[in-house]
This record gives sequence, C-alpha cells and structure tokens, in this order.
Amino acid sequence: MRIYTPPPDKSITIRALLLGAIAAGRTVVKNPLRSRDTEAALACLKELGVRTKTFKDRVKVTGAGPGGFGPGPFRLDAGESGTLARLLAGLLAGAGTTALIAGRGTLLHRPMEPLAAALRLAGADVRAARGRLPLKISPARPRGGTLKLSTASAQIKSALLLAGLAARRPVSFRESAPSRDHTERLLKFMGARLNKSGSRLTLRPGPLKGRTIKVPGDISSAAFFIAAALLSGRPLKIKSAGLNPGRLGFVKALKRMGARIELKTRTSFPEPAGDIVVRPSLLRAVKIPARDIPSMIDEVPLLALLAARARGTTVINGAEELRKKESDRIKSTLALLSSLGARASYRRGTLTVPGGQEFAPLRPVETFGDHRIAMAAAAASALRPGLKIKNPGCVDKSHPGFFRDFRRVL
Ligand code: S3P
Repeated sequence: MRIYTPPPDKSITIRALLLGAIAAGRTVVKNPLRSRDTEAALACLKELGVRTKTFKDRVKVTGAGPGGFGPGPFRLDAGESGTLARLLAGLLAGAGTTALIAGRGTLLHRPMEPLAAALRLAGADVRAARGRLPLKISPARPRGGTLKLSTASAQIKSALLLAGLAARRPVSFRESAPSRDHTERLLKFMGARLNKSGSRLTLRPGPLKGRTIKVPGDISSAAFFIAAALLSGRPLKIKSAGLNPGRLGFVKALKRMGARIELKTRTSFPEPAGDIVVRPSLLRAVKIPARDIPSMIDEVPLLALLAARARGTTVINGAEELRKKESDRIKSTLALLSSLGARASYRRGTLTVPGGQEFAPLRPVETFGDHRIAMAAAAASALRPGLKIKNPGCVDKSHPGFFRDFRRVL
C-alpha cells in the first residue's frame, strides 16, 4: 500500500504562531507548515516586533505578552490568507494598538464586514473598507459580554475569542453549527479559562502561557489524496493527519457514501491525530445537511467531484458560504466539473450533482488562483491522466510540493 504523509496543518500553524505572540514566555511550534500563508503570518509577527526564530522542524516565538506590541501604528500584510487576516484582527482588537491589515490577490475580494461587525459587537473598534480589506483597527478595549450573535465561521469565532482575552468582562456567544475548534483547544492548552456548554462558548479574559505545540498533518491537504485514491481505486495509507472532529465532515460523508475508510487515532492532546486507511470502494449518492458544511467547508469541491462518479444524485445543502473562499467555489467547482465533461447545478444554496458520470476532459481546468481547485483537479487526474491545470503554482498557499508528492504517491 502506498503511504502519504501530509504537510503540517495550516489552520493550526497560524493559530499557534499568533497565540504564541501574545503569550507570556516562549512558545515552540513543532512541525510548522511552511507555505505562503504561514510565511505571511511570520512576516506579520516580525512587523509587530515579535521575535521568532525559525529552525528546520520548529519555530520559536518569544511572546510579547498581553498589550506587548506597543501602540503602533502597524501596517500588516496578510498576503492571501483569510485565516491570518481575520485572526489578526481579533488579536489586535484587544491589544490597544492602531493597525491596518492589508492583503493581496484573492483575499482582496473576500468579505470582511461580518468579522468587523462581530468584533464591534464585542466593543472593539474594527472597520472594513467598503466591506473588504484593509481592516482598520483603533485602540478600544473590548467590553465583552453576552453577544447576540451566532456564527458558523471558525475564523469569526476565533477572532472573537482572541479579542475576548483582553476584554473587560467574559465574552459569550453561540455557534450556529459546529466548526473546527483548534483555537479553543490551543487557548485551553495555554491556560485560558474557556467553557463550552452546548453551542455556547464563554471565555474569561486572562493571560496565556507559552507552550510547546506539535502541529499534526493537514487533513484538508490529505483530502485530495483520499479523493484520488478513491477515484483511481488504489489503496492508500495516510500517516499523522489531524483528526479534529470539526474537520472530519468530508471523511464522514464519504463513509456514508460507502467508502471504506478507517481512522486510527494515535494522539489526542491538544489535537487528535492519527492514520487514515483508504480502500477501493463503490460510492453511492449522499444528502448533506447545511449543518455539516462547516466541518467540510474546504472539501466540498472534492465531494462534488466524487459525487459525479457515485451512484445516484448527491444533494449538498448550505453551500452558499463557498462563494466567499479563495475563489467563488460554486462557480469554480461547476467550471471544474464542466472541464471534465461532467454536469452539476446550483440553486439557492444547494449544489446538486448527478452521479454515474464519465470524466472526459474537454479543456484545461481554470483554477481562478484557488489552491483547492488546483488540487481537486489533480485528484481528478488520478482517473484521467493528462488533464491540464492552469496556474498550478497557486497550490503553494497551503501545500508547496503538492504535485511532486502527488506524482510519487498516486
Ligand atoms: C479556517 C476556517 C474556514 C476555512 C478556512 C480556514 C480556519 O473558514 O474555509 O480555509 O482556519 O479557521 P470559515 O471559518 O470562514 O468558514
């Protein structure tokens, strides 16, 4: 059986670096991802005056402590990373600084107003220029309190929690659907007083302590290899992948479709991680409720791809959020299927994919600069080699070396 070890997790690497920056003492991020998004995170920390030292397999961060960045003004470049821009906004909202968070490329088109509005509700002063970047942050200590807000976005949730660390009172809000809880796990690991009761999160303000954080493999990068293994009918073992329940929606959906996938959790603190074994399987259609979308948000294009080959018609509800990613992933997923000679349709948040379709590539795949569309196209090429992909270099956002790994493993 072929073996694949995914690159370290992007979401967790960015969180570990940012939390390390405001903790007291030293944080060691072991096995960090080195990609365009995480390089942007390191550059932002440097700009904020946070000392970081990079080694081959770890990054040491000397925390500035709460309010330790100084008054600014800072001008930060989040590159193309939505996670970085939004989490930084939360971090700086409580830091007593003046800062401008700018970005580039695809990030300039992504909505920032829902984030800014959520942070303002907590008493921070964060403004988005015409709803987009740059974000302007002015000193204002967040009040905290019980917020009349519920969010299904892990990024907005995380930003609120980061701002809440420096608030006057505990901050409390609800999650409208469960999403990845990496921030919550790391906050607790670093000494924060955070409670979860049902869908309600309550954080009491307080300092963090630097810790050593080991980053597991990125399940979202592994997902392309799972899809390619299923499409090509070749068994595959994936080693040391993160198995956070908030990231497993894709795997759970595939299991409901009849995929023979086994998960073996090996470690669980602060993040569950382990191995995944994928065996050749015949897939049938599935119906995805909107509530499941946050746990598979970055894997929906892949699910659509596999659904086109399954038996029966797959219906994916609550897919509207996909329009706000690195590309409009409804448009780019439909375009990907269409370049493969396959059909799907989208209406009012619901993506419908008829199954039993052949892939007969008609033209090169347009990636729209979106790393996940480029990698989904590569997964399709496991079934139809020779598929051409435009602007494949966009994979460097999350997985430099993706095509080399892909050729070696599949
Ligand atoms: C992420 C959360 C998701 C996801 C993104 C990474 C995170 O975004 O699409 O790739 O690290 O928290 P939303 O929380 O906006 O859905």
